[in-house]
Amino acid sequence: MLPHITATTYLAPLREGGSLPGLVEADDLGTYVVKFTGAGQGPRALVAEIVVGRLGSELGLQIPDLALIEVDAEIGRREPDPEVQELLVASAGLNLAIDFLPGSVGYDRSFAVPVADASGVVWLDAYVANVDRSRRNTNLLMWHKSLWAIDHGACLRFHHAWGDPERFATSGYDYGDHVLGGVGRPRDVHEQLAAQITPELLAAILAEVPDAWLAPDQTRPDPKAPPDATAARERYLEFLLARLAAAPRWLP
Ligand SMILES: Nc1ncnc2c1ncn2[C@@H]1O[C@H](COP(=O)(O)OP(=O)(O)OP(=O)(O)O)[C@@H](O)[C@H]1O
Ligand SMILES: [Mg+2]
Repeated sequence: MLPHITATTYLAPLREGGSLPGLVEADDLGTYVVKFTGAGQGPRALVAEIVVGRLGSELGLQIPDLALIEVDAEIGRREPDPEVQELLVASAGLNLAIDFLPGSVGYDRSFAVPVADASGVVWLDAYVANVDRSRRNTNLLMWHKSLWAIDHGACLRFHHAWGDPERFATSGYDYGDHVLGGVGRPRDVHEQLAAQITPELLAAILAEVPDAWLAPDQTRPDPKAPPDATAARERYLEFLLARLAAAPRWLP
């Protein structure tokens, strides 16, 4: 299961992130990028971070470790920005912590990365339909001279409209918009990666997602949405297996 930690100090907001993630110190003395449940993107984005982040790690990609972090709005008492204060108040309780990679820099195409690393990232993104790895916003970091993938909140778009699982599973993927689309060779790694994705692995990862984040979204009622966390986990499992089976439709 994901480690469970407690935030001790809010260090600074990460302004470049649309969801206003914060740099936070925790009781294990680690420093984390925290994504808050109260952010505009809502808890679904955090579900996608866990499902895709953990899956990528299990497949051997470099993705910062994740943890569940208990946040008390009090940790921000020295933070003057009212927007941050509001976000902390709206996010009391469990949130998502992502291990902070100190000294990392944003990837751009001036960095040379091994084809195998690029292939893994492109394959995973095509599988989970990640539209958030463009040249303008790569969501890739260089750390200790190698490539790390972050920011998976926009993956698994089907959970914003539950009605049409078939369409999600069989939709193609726009490699032209992917910053590594011209470098990675997803077909070369498909067999090896796909073979590792079993119902058991997916179920174990889905079990790591807090129930509350899987509950129906009260702000956007959807009659086709799963009624509770157990049903939601089944739907994610079904969708992810269906998309894997439909690989010929989304491989280049
Ligand atoms: N684990 C990490 N280690 C170091 N820096 C990080 C880490 N995670 C995020 N960052 C930095 O914070 C920025 C925002 O993070 P991220 O992209 O995950 O947030 P977001 O709010 O989802 O952003 P977006 O605006 O792309 O939707 C990243 O571009 C990166 O510069
Ligand atoms: Mg980002």
